[in-house]
Amino acid sequence: MAIKSIAVLLLAATAAAATDTDEASRGAAVYANYCQNCHGEGARGLAAFEGDLATFRERLAGTAGMPDMSRVLQEQEVAEVFAYLRRTQSP
Ligand code: HEC
Repeated sequence: MAIKSIAVLLLAATAAAATDTDEASRGAAVYANYCQNCHGEGARGLAAFEGDLATFRERLAGTAGMPDMSRVLQEQEVAEVFAYLRRTQSP
């Protein structure tokens, strides 16, 4: 019984460590991998983007001059990059 409790505690600690970086921070890594070459450091090239997540997702698939990134990223990664973009846009 005691051993079982310790195992549960250890699992909980591991899960907490894994979620330690927030969505926007994970998005920064995704952005650096897939977007930075074209859109610049710190999402500079996207700073003027104003739409919501759904619009953002649409632009990934249908923007002239840009490869269809909606096929490259997982849905969760799109949300993470979007969160990252929002963070870079906030003053
Ligand atoms: C091969 C170059 C290239 C890559 C890689 C690329 N883009 Fe683009 N992207 C463009 C071009 C070119 C445009 C159209 C011109 C513009 O708005 O900057 C564009 C436009 C956009 C727009 C629309 C901007 C607006 O204001 O409506 C969004 C959103 C966007 N890209 C997001 C991304 C994200 C997120 C990634 C990474 C997952 C990415 N792009 C990767 C070249 C690229």
